Amino acid sequence: MFANRISQTLHDEHRATIALMERLERAITRRQPIDVADSEGRRLLDDLAAAIEADTLRHFDFEETELFTLFDSVGDQLIGDHLTEEHSFMRPLGQQLVTLARRASAGGFDTDSWHEFSRAGAELVQRMVVHVQKEEMALLPLLDQTLDDATEARLLDAYLGTATPAS
Ligand SMILES: [Fe+2]
Ligand SMILES: [Fe+2]
Repeated sequence: MFANRISQTLHDEHRATIALMERLERAITRRQPIDVADSEGRRLLDDLAAAIEADTLRHFDFEETELFTLFDSVGDQLIGDHLTEEHSFMRPLGQQLVTLARRASAGGFDTDSWHEFSRAGAELVQRMVVHVQKEEMALLPLLDQTLDDATEARLLDAYLGTATPAS
């Protein structure tokens, strides 16, 4: 879909994130606590904790440190600031969900912890869906037009650690 691999990698990660948000939303709208004795419920909690910790927070950091500056360079600083602000709302929600998901995975939910989990989860889903749509419409096409081959290779290496040792 995108010519450069940075846009394509972020796009693939956005799709995986949205798929996970849809699973989370389905579980929340059932309006009864996720049953950790059930393998599907358990897997959702484990996937959620692992994905937020390993992927989402890293993805946010990379966008902020390496990519949003590109908007500055084309004279639009506001959008980078705006997307950074959205990250800053989602980070604590994500961290809260990781903690609650891990705790529930070990000991199940009670009324209070389920309430807390479903409230934070619903807010993260809502914010994430809008955020990803904005980046798909603004950030990824801009990257696709702007990145030269050398920058693309450097950023991909920085993000994925795919450098091959010089021989
Ligand atoms: Fe983002
Ligand atoms: Fe993103």
